[in-house]
Amino acid sequence: MADLFDLSGRVAFVTGAAQGLGQGAAVGFARYGADVVCVDLAADACAETVARVEALGRQAMAVGCSVTDEQAVGAAVAAAVSRFGQLDIAFNAAGITKRVASTDIAPADWRRVIEVNLVGVFLCCQAVGRHMVARGSGSIINMASVAALGAMGRGNTPYTASKAGVAGLTRELAIEWAPFGVRVNALAPIQFRTPFITTLLADEELTRRLVAKIPLGRMGEVEDIVGPAVFLASDASAMITGHVLPVDGGYLAQ
Ligand SMILES: NC(=O)c1ccc[n+]([C@@H]2O[C@H](COP(=O)([O-])OP(=O)(O)OC[C@H]3O[C@@H](n4cnc5c(N)ncnc54)[C@H](O)[C@@H]3O)[C@@H](O)[C@H]2O)c1
Repeated sequence: MADLFDLSGRVAFVTGAAQGLGQGAAVGFARYGADVVCVDLAADACAETVARVEALGRQAMAVGCSVTDEQAVGAAVAAAVSRFGQLDIAFNAAGITKRVASTDIAPADWRRVIEVNLVGVFLCCQAVGRHMVARGSGSIINMASVAALGAMGRGNTPYTASKAGVAGLTRELAIEWAPFGVRVNALAPIQFRTPFITTLLADEELTRRLVAKIPLGRMGEVEDIVGPAVFLASDASAMITGHVLPVDGGYLAQ
């Protein structure tokens, strides 16, 4: 029987691939057979991810580009298609946060979070989507957050607004591109232990309180993103589009 999760012969375009969840997904896709285009602010920063993908016998290329730069994103997609001939999967993980009380946050900082987390995801979806729509197939996975589905507090307004935007963007694109065989879904993780939450982890009391709210009793580890990412990338989810999948240890079920 064919393996529903097999990604052999497929090519994944992964942003935020230098570390954290982007790196975890990139290596996970390779483990299931995909070649990987690793995109982050600097190509050099992707060296470890590229080495781990290649160690699995898959091909990898690193591209330095900001997801906020539409020309650079277009060039990254063009370089990837030129090297591999096709893109089958996109995993849009590049993201930032800025936790400042809403009374104090500078509008420029607020805009920057929206620019990277929402506009950046759109620009990557658009550039990859043009290619996938023309080919008539593809699976796009956007990184939302549990913040897309409920408030976080603690000065998270730009982040939560950006992730709610990613959920809406995901649903709109899913409907727009379904006739062309392109699926668009999102993942909504709870806190995952990556460099993204280094400051949070330094606060042991806050970490303890946050973990206490997660029914499975722990934060996510990078490896926990692989199953959901491979599932949404592969034929195992062939009938699923426009879905925002919590990866939250039961947090949102409460
Ligand atoms: N870690 C968590 O707790 C958590 C929870 C929910 C959602 N998320 C989301 O998952 C995604 C990945 O998070 P992570 O924990 O791996 O974060 P991370 O900080 O470890 O990695 C993010 C990566 O994105 C890259 N990046 C930032 N701005 C960029 C830009 N403009 N262009 C290209 N690359 C850029 C960074 O260089 C970095 O390598 C983010 O969208 C984040 O919001 C994370």
